[in-house]
This record gives sequence, structure tokens and C-alpha cells, in this order.
Amino acid sequence: MTSRNWHTRFGFYFLAVGSAFGLGNLWRFPYVVGENGGGAFVLLYIFLALTLGMPLLIGELMLGRFTRQSVMMAAKKISVNSGKKFKLLSAMPVVMSLVVLSYYSVISGWVLHFILQFSLSLFGSSQIGSGSMMSLLKNGGLQFGLASVHLLITLIVVVKGIQDGLEKWIGWMMPFFAFLVVILIWRSTSLSTTTEVMRFLFYPDFSKLTLSSLNHAIGHVFFTLSVGFGTMVTFGSYIRDDQHLPTVGLRVAFFDTIVSFGGLFIVFPLVFKASNQVITDPALMFDVLPQFFNEMNGGLLFGLAFFVCLYMAALNASIGLLETIVSNIVDTFKGMSRSRAGWMSGLTALFLTLLPALSGSFFSETRLGQKGLIELIDSLLINGFLPLVALGLSFIFFKGLSLKEKERLFIDKEKFVSYSMFPQWIFAVQWFAPVVIILGWILHLFGLLTGHV
Ligand code: PHE
Repeated sequence: MTSRNWHTRFGFYFLAVGSAFGLGNLWRFPYVVGENGGGAFVLLYIFLALTLGMPLLIGELMLGRFTRQSVMMAAKKISVNSGKKFKLLSAMPVVMSLVVLSYYSVISGWVLHFILQFSLSLFGSSQIGSGSMMSLLKNGGLQFGLASVHLLITLIVVVKGIQDGLEKWIGWMMPFFAFLVVILIWRSTSLSTTTEVMRFLFYPDFSKLTLSSLNHAIGHVFFTLSVGFGTMVTFGSYIRDDQHLPTVGLRVAFFDTIVSFGGLFIVFPLVFKASNQVITDPALMFDVLPQFFNEMNGGLLFGLAFFVCLYMAALNASIGLLETIVSNIVDTFKGMSRSRAGWMSGLTALFLTLLPALSGSFFSETRLGQKGLIELIDSLLINGFLPLVALGLSFIFFKGLSLKEKERLFIDKEKFVSYSMFPQWIFAVQWFAPVVIILGWILHLFGLLTGHV
């Protein structure tokens, strides 16, 4: 991936889809939907994915293609062209990537844990009990160890520049993963709870939305589509010129949303089966799924395959995050090697990992209401900072590229709809995005202050 002429067999989609697809879809989406009351939130999410996430995603890709740089140098380059200064705004996505990588590594470590558990169970030397997740959460040392292993694997891939080989490999695994997911959806939705689940997920009861729901939906849209991290700018700079960026954006948003729905169909029937109350914390998926595999015929092998595939997706997303940081450091500090940049960022991320990893043990008393530290970190990053950072990034590409340049990058003469979509895209980035993001933020703040979250 070091080269700016990226030529894999899978082309560019694979990179962007691969980065978007990750723990956000199967792990985070179900619990955020649970937290925000189901159907009405799901609708809000779909609406915002199309009207907010996708337009900003396209803009980030355009910035990368136009400058052939990662976000910080890209901002510098267009600052020179347009006489504006975007230094601070362009550093924020990179900081965001670093901090998110650290807590993403803890969750990826949870996935590793279940790979080990299922392997051990398969060979008969242990049993996965219902308290498996609970005991992991209490074991800070183990979580830190697993997160370190994950970071090390990510680091080796990025520093050695072997993404190319790995991407192909993961590319072969993903259809298999899709197959597992379809079987799981089928098994899960044939439980007796399906009617309740469908009602919960698709009947839009707007009274269940809270003052924070808009902000939560915005944060998750950005997280799951990898918007606001500069990742798509980096990937946009690697992409071949013959790819039409708005089409890439549309496909990424489309595939990502489909997979997220898969996550809902798998997790919620199990949640409803386990209890009548919708549980809404980050351990949700890891609480219900292993138990389900345990009770299923041939479930241990199935569970192992599922967690291995999920890990590959998490690894791919983590590679995207680390690659963003490394490409920015290398582009900014000319002369620094990728391996030095990689080790520096890997070690910093590892240090930051301590907080979320010790959330259930050393920091178990650090709580705000129902929320433990890991949830607070997630909320602060994804609901608090990410929308603002993404807005700053949209400001860079919107102000930095002239209307003519935007038009040239957006319109494909052979795609007639791109002519009519262009003004809508401009409207979405220039007006809609700042208004909803700031509105979401203010409502959320108001909710926090009045206790209506
Ligand atoms: N989009 C990824 C997910 O849903 C997370 C991610 C964010 C990956 C930013 C790369 C960059 O899991």
C-alpha cells in the first residue's frame, strides 16, 4: 500500500469497503440501536447514512484523489492553492484515528479471546459458559494482553507493507463470512422471538427517541463508514483514476448498511430470547452469541469460524486506521521511515489502550450513571468528537477545492445522473451537514444537562 498506484485484483472498492466493514457493523450497531429504542432510530440511521455519511465520504475521497496525499499534507497543499489554513483541522482526524485504534484494539482483543475459547472448547479442554464475557471484562490484564497482540499483528502488516497479500486473502474469506452470516440470520430468525424483534426493529416508535438520538445516529454513521478519520482521504489518494468516486461512495454505504442489518437480525432475536428487556451495553453481542453457538449443533466449529472471520474484518479496519496514521506521519515528516512511524504510533496506541482495557477492573468504579469507562470513552469519541472532526474535515475539502475542481471530480460524463446529483451533493455538504451535526450536538448537550439521554 506504500505505492500511490494501487492495483490489486479487487481494485479500490475492496479497500474502502474493507475499512468500512468492521466491528462497527456487528458489534456496535446492535447495541446503539438497542440503546436508542429500535425502529425509529434505524430509520434515522438509514436516512443519515445516505444524506450525511455518503456525501462526506465522497468528499474525503475527492480530497485524496485531488492532492494524492494523506489528509494533513492534502490540507497543506490546498491551503497553498487557496490561501486558507487548515493545519489544526487536518490534524484532528489523525489524532482521532490513533485514539479510536486504541479502543478498537480492545474490542478486537475480545474477538481474539473468543477464538481462543472456541478452539479450546473444540478440543475439549474447556467449556464456554454464560459468564465467559463477564469474566473477560473483569480481567484487565488479559484484555490488555489481547489488545497488544492485536496491535502487534496490525503493526507488522502495516510496517511490512504486506496489506496487498493480506487484502487478497481476506477478500477470499469474506464471501465465506457472508455465507456464515446468512446461516446465522436464518438460525437466529427462526427462533420464536422473531415477531417481537421485527416489531422492535422496524416499527418506528418515535417516542422512543431521546434528545441524544440524532447525535448518536450521526456518530455511528461516521464511525461505521470510516468518515472523519482521514482514512478515506488516504485511500482516495491510492485509488486509480478510472474509478468514479461518487459510485464508490454509494457502494460503500450500501454494502456497509446491508451488513449492519445482518448484525441486527443476528443479535436481536438472541437478545429477546435471553431476556425480555433489551440489554444495551458494549458487551451485548459477545454476551449472546457465544451462548447461542454453544447450544447449536456443530456450534463450536461454527462459532470458531464466525469469530475468525469477524477478527479478519476487525484487523482490516484496524489496518485502515494505522495506515492513516502512518501515511500522515511519513508524508509530513519526509525522511521518516514507515517502520519508525508505525512503531511510534503503535506504542502510543498501546499506551492509550490501558484505559479501556482496565475499564472493568482497575477503573470499575469510574462510572457515570449506568455507563462504565469503556462506554464513556466510546461515547466521548464517537458521539462527542467524531461529528465535529468530520465537520472540520468536510470544511477543508469544501473550502479548499474550487467549484470547478469539485465538479470535475464528481461528474462522470458517462453517468448521466452525476450531473443532477452534483448540486444535491453540494447542498448536502455545504448546508445539510453543518446544520444537522450542530443540531445533533446541541440537542445531545441539552439532553445531558437535563438528564434526557
Ligand atoms: N468503519 C470501521 C467499523 O465499522 C471502523 C473504522 C473507522 C475503520 C475508521 C477504519 C477507519 O468497524
